[in-house]
Amino acid sequence: MVQAINLTCENTTNPIGTPQHPRFSWQLKSDKNSVLQESRQLQVSADENFSDIIWDSDRVCCSNSIFVPCAKLLSPQRRHYWRVKVWDNHKNESHWSEAANFVTALGEDCFTATFISGENADSGASSAGTMLRGEFTVKSRAKAAFLNSTALGVYRLHLNGSRIGDIAMAPGWTEYNSRLLYQSYDVTSLLCEGVNVVGAMVGPGWYKGDIGFQGKRNNYGQQTAFAMQLTILYEDGSTETISTDENWRASDGPVTYSEIYHGETYDARKEPINWTRSEFDVSGWRDVSTLAANPAIVVPQDGPPVRAREVWKAEKIFTAPNGEVVVDFGQNLTGWVRLRVKGNAGDVVKYSHSEVLDKDGNFYTKNLRSAKQKISYTLKGGTDEVYEPFFTFQGFRYIRIDEFPGNYSAANFEAVAAYSDMPETGSFKCSHPGLNQLEHNVRWGMKSNFLDIPTDCPQRDERLGWTGDAQVFIRAASYLHDISGFFRKWLRDMAESQLPDGAISHVIPDILSHWSFENKPFTPATGWADAAVICPWITYVYTGDIELLRESYPMMTAWVEYIRSQSRMGLVWSDGRHFGDWVALDAKDGSYIGATPTDLIATAYYAYSSELLTKAAVRLGKDDDARKYFKLREEIGDAFVKEFFTPTGRLAARTQTAHVLALHFGLTPSEYRKRTIDTLVEILDEYDNHLSTGFLGTPYICYALSENGNLDLAYELLLKEDYPSWLYPISKGATTIWEHWDGLKPDGTMWSDDMNSFNHYAYGAVADWMYSVIGGIDSDPTEPGYRHSVIAPRPGGGITSAITTQLTPYGKLVSDWTLEGDTMRLNITIPHNTTATIALPKGKISENAGLSFAFDGRGSSAAVGSGTYRFVVENVEVK
Ligand code: BGC
Repeated sequence: MVQAINLTCENTTNPIGTPQHPRFSWQLKSDKNSVLQESRQLQVSADENFSDIIWDSDRVCCSNSIFVPCAKLLSPQRRHYWRVKVWDNHKNESHWSEAANFVTALGEDCFTATFISGENADSGASSAGTMLRGEFTVKSRAKAAFLNSTALGVYRLHLNGSRIGDIAMAPGWTEYNSRLLYQSYDVTSLLCEGVNVVGAMVGPGWYKGDIGFQGKRNNYGQQTAFAMQLTILYEDGSTETISTDENWRASDGPVTYSEIYHGETYDARKEPINWTRSEFDVSGWRDVSTLAANPAIVVPQDGPPVRAREVWKAEKIFTAPNGEVVVDFGQNLTGWVRLRVKGNAGDVVKYSHSEVLDKDGNFYTKNLRSAKQKISYTLKGGTDEVYEPFFTFQGFRYIRIDEFPGNYSAANFEAVAAYSDMPETGSFKCSHPGLNQLEHNVRWGMKSNFLDIPTDCPQRDERLGWTGDAQVFIRAASYLHDISGFFRKWLRDMAESQLPDGAISHVIPDILSHWSFENKPFTPATGWADAAVICPWITYVYTGDIELLRESYPMMTAWVEYIRSQSRMGLVWSDGRHFGDWVALDAKDGSYIGATPTDLIATAYYAYSSELLTKAAVRLGKDDDARKYFKLREEIGDAFVKEFFTPTGRLAARTQTAHVLALHFGLTPSEYRKRTIDTLVEILDEYDNHLSTGFLGTPYICYALSENGNLDLAYELLLKEDYPSWLYPISKGATTIWEHWDGLKPDGTMWSDDMNSFNHYAYGAVADWMYSVIGGIDSDPTEPGYRHSVIAPRPGGGITSAITTQLTPYGKLVSDWTLEGDTMRLNITIPHNTTATIALPKGKISENAGLSFAFDGRGSSAAVGSGTYRFVVENVEVK
């Protein structure tokens, strides 16, 4: 028996606001092994019973079960139902799957609503929120109603007394001048016949608030605004569109100040009671102003929205040595505090947020730089009041109570973690508690910094989409959560901001306007701008979304061509101002840039980007390009060798990162390989087998070792507990990944006050080594999205068990191994409609699940289909 289950449309369960040619995915359920889909039939219907079929694919011979496009252009703003039937290689025919549904977005360029504002062109300095209110009449029973809305700023929406949806910080942050997302909500159940009231609260957000470490505000405009377009489908078959217009009314409201960096001031006495009820007296409200809109830039939400995802209770409340009262939530995170309070009207609660305590155990905020992260709440009085900020988020583990009326306890506060709503895909648990905590810290680095865009950090006056950070971390991210929608959205903004010559800015959205450090004219930075190639490629390999690769291809090509245009002297790209091996420990005193020469890094990344572009061209069937970039990659490789290796094979730059890049990017000729590895081992020895790498060397150092006969050393590095190492911060109580190896030094003092984030995911990139080498799970780039996976766990480091799972697009993949003495037992599960190569470490295979293994000198491998397999290897070689 075979059955299609877990249906998703655009990778989301029953989404709203999809393209009119949505893409469908499903998984197979079967009690057999080695199950492959041979053909499938899809149906899209206007009704749940499939009596009004809009599109029937008929039975198609096709093994693909992810991102299958709907061939028919569907009507906009309609709920559609879909189902799928499959036939497998065991001659089984499934029943129709359970029906799933989706709602299509508005048609292209059809968001034509007027933007209305409670502010005016001189409101640039205001950080207050405004309230906007509109009434409309529903003439008869509505069958369905879909509300589409967006803002210049951030907004929250209410209809007839209820909040609409649960999206936070909508519409998110995009290149607002060319791409503004609208969100779609099904409001059918909230609508009533007669007069209805919509209310929007709008705050400055990224649009006009203080954003960027240069202290700038009004980056996109001086005035917040809101627009809404509601489609009503009546029972009688007629439709009506209601939009924001000049008849709406505006008012100031309880949010008297709100800034992403600085926090919020809220006066509950100013809440207009029942303001989205028809009986509300609107006489004191003012006229709205209207703003010209450009329908071409308003497009449907194309990534997962931000939501409040988890709640952490306060772990303890204590008085710090300096007398301040501090609440500890036990987890560094991004979001806000949910406050519960009771008191008199006009009483005030104030608190501040921070990530760490200082050496003496006091509340510490210097590393926030100019970000204030403060909340002030004025009570309306008399009842139990619950407050969560509307338009801001903070990075914190602790709050300091600056003012509170009466008694309070830990129960008055909860921490709400907010992040982009990406389903969790991976899990990792092994016998080493430190590594489990490390994986937890990496995951929380991701949760804290995947708030609509991939940010460097969530607390100080940056929170920007730094490209370098994202590219080093993306592969690790792909193991932890489903990154497909998140990166599609961000990569679209990257493409929008790419300069005509192909240059890519340091941060996306490009709030810094092609800022260049050292006050010199902007040039893109190696390892940062390469995100334009690396991020689409990695997203494709781990999610199987070829459309994303196709869409990104022009940007990828333009970036490589940009580097080519800057390269000279045998293709060595040495110009430009680079961040280099950022914050490496071998940097000169007073510099953030590590000792590895930036021209070597730039050439290495030029080679890497060209190589990935070649692979992308092959996958997309662009044969001429594939040949062209293959040749380019060869030429860069030759130039690299000529420039950076002596004729006897010594790599000219004697740093860990130089050797790591030369090895991992395949730039070391085979005759120099041994010497390069030996030197890397030697340099590590000089550091007593500790890291000295920065942002660009760290992600690959364990690979450079494990791929070159030094698995034991990779484990040793990973498991080191003293500074500098991945586990050192854990010994200091870290619950996220730090920006610096020594953010908090062994003596409790800080690395610095100004560049010292305790929630920077870059060094968490090592999680991909943990998943792919300890767990041994990887996706084969030639059959992406784990259509073919490679399962090759490589035990070592004294670890006696590891269970690693991955929710692939096809279903759950499991690698579960234990080691008892020199006997290794493995249980491996491969999802249906995929195949795998299982590679076991060297040893005697005493249980082989009926498979025939081929020995290649290093270990044995076998090809398998879907199913669960058990293996035992005796006398196993463990590093
Ligand atoms: C950020 C980094 C970023 C860097 C550029 C910093 O301020 O926090 O993570 O990549 O600037 O070098």
